[in-house]
Amino acid sequence: MVISKICCIGAGYVGGPTCSVMALKCPNICVTVVDRSAERIAQWNSDKLPIYEPGLDDVVKKCRNVNLFFSTDVETAIREADLIFISVNTPTKTFGNGKGRAADLKYVESAARLIAEIAQSNKIVVEKSTVPVRAAESIMHILRANQKPGIRYDILSNPEFLAEGTAVDDLLHPDRVLIGGEETSEGHQALEKLSWVYQHWIPKENIITTNTWSSELSKLAANAFLAQRISSINSLSAVCEATGADVSEVARAVGLDSRIGSKFLQASVGFGGSCFQKDILNLVYICEGLNLPQVAEYWQQVIHMNEYQKTRFSQKIIECLFNTVSDKRISIFGFAFKKNTGDTRETPAITVCKTLLEEGAKLDIYDPKVEPEQIIDDLTHPCVTDSPEDVKKAVQIHSDPYSAVRGTHAIVLCTEWDEFIGLDYKRIFQSMMKPAYIFDGRKILDHDHLQQIGFHVQTIGKKL
Ligand code: NAD
Ligand code: UGA
Repeated sequence: MVISKICCIGAGYVGGPTCSVMALKCPNICVTVVDRSAERIAQWNSDKLPIYEPGLDDVVKKCRNVNLFFSTDVETAIREADLIFISVNTPTKTFGNGKGRAADLKYVESAARLIAEIAQSNKIVVEKSTVPVRAAESIMHILRANQKPGIRYDILSNPEFLAEGTAVDDLLHPDRVLIGGEETSEGHQALEKLSWVYQHWIPKENIITTNTWSSELSKLAANAFLAQRISSINSLSAVCEATGADVSEVARAVGLDSRIGSKFLQASVGFGGSCFQKDILNLVYICEGLNLPQVAEYWQQVIHMNEYQKTRFSQKIIECLFNTVSDKRISIFGFAFKKNTGDTRETPAITVCKTLLEEGAKLDIYDPKVEPEQIIDDLTHPCVTDSPEDVKKAVQIHSDPYSAVRGTHAIVLCTEWDEFIGLDYKRIFQSMMKPAYIFDGRKILDHDHLQQIGFHVQTIGKKL
């Protein structure tokens, strides 16, 4: 069997870009991305895609309605596909057993049940979502328990390593593609078929294969390692602030050791995004279930350190502003969890804004890509506040950074958008209350220049 039709269940940050690049690179394969959200599918079929990702518009425009389709007709896409990616969300459970830690697999399970119900021919089912170790076993159980005569299912694990903001480039030039499969001859054949799809644009030596459980664990491990590096450098940023060392200099000196490497050593207000925290919590939960409390505690500390960093930065703002921000107006530069995305899931900006709002501040927020409704939604979420109406009164969203600073006491930079580097800070200083403060949570601004203008500047990992 050659793969000629692919279906992807879940048109989110992973399913959308992954399948768009796959369609671009495999003109001989028809790729259909389905979602149960009609709104999301309509956006994928419109001029304004549901996610902002550099380079994605061009890829979608080239392939859409040629060999790339976005549809709510899940049944037809499943029925016709040779290979099906499950790329649905796997959020942290908010209820019951494992609440606040375990991954909620209800969407993965519902996708598996849908496949079992609809399939009328052999399918290779690929777990693309990030899942706990041995989740493929559950998918396998569901599919095989509902197997119709003559139909065969093969299950593969193929975790995704793209990062938001660089997704298209990451998909075009991945460090590696990982495929885990069953150690049987059928399992091997299925694995070869998925590998063949990737070989359309990825050198064979960059496609690595493992058993299914190693593949599932490698994904959690990779995210845990990346987050651990950020927590490590952030922990040292506190030491730098207390001693006069500069965390950027420390990161450079440490990172030049080729055994350590320089990437992911940028101290910050803390890491955000939909996955680092979720996946580490999941790893911790798995370790506890395996009766490995020391291992669980080790990884839990990465999350604790991140919480500490977010709180430490927020407290520093309040302390510097004479221990009170009540009724003070504060500009927030950037709300997304990193630059080049409009995604706000677990963004550190929520923690910073929430702390300032609780202390009675009024916020003027500007982000180049996050929709105003999303910011209000995030800040009025029941987990964030008890009083949505008060929040709405205290928050103003701006479409321009210069309007967001008029008459404010301080700027708090939460996201490292490039445009913040090139702003006219003399003009900004003139329009602000005095003394004017800047809290650079991303270490991207020219602090000497800002001090020359007259700003009081505070940043991460350096006493100024
Ligand atoms: P997302 O929330 O953006 O998208 C998931 C989509 O799946 C949603 O549109 C939802 O409507 C749809 N869906 C859920 N159940 C469905 C069903 N039964 N039928 C049809 N559609 C259904 O999530 P995401 O950010 O794309 O993440 C997906 C998975 O990939 C997660 O497991 C995540 O951990 C992992 N991952 C994410 C990233 C990232 O950068 N966001 C990177 C690597 C891996
Ligand atoms: C991360 C991983 O990098 C991807 O490989 C993985 O596929 C993905 O999670 C996932 O599983 O969802 P992503 O969260 O999109 O990707 O973005 P990152 O670039 O990893 O940044 C995560 C957070 O860490 C951001 O808030 C970023 O600002 C912060 N960060 C990153 C730092 O504070 N310092 C750094 O040096 C690097």
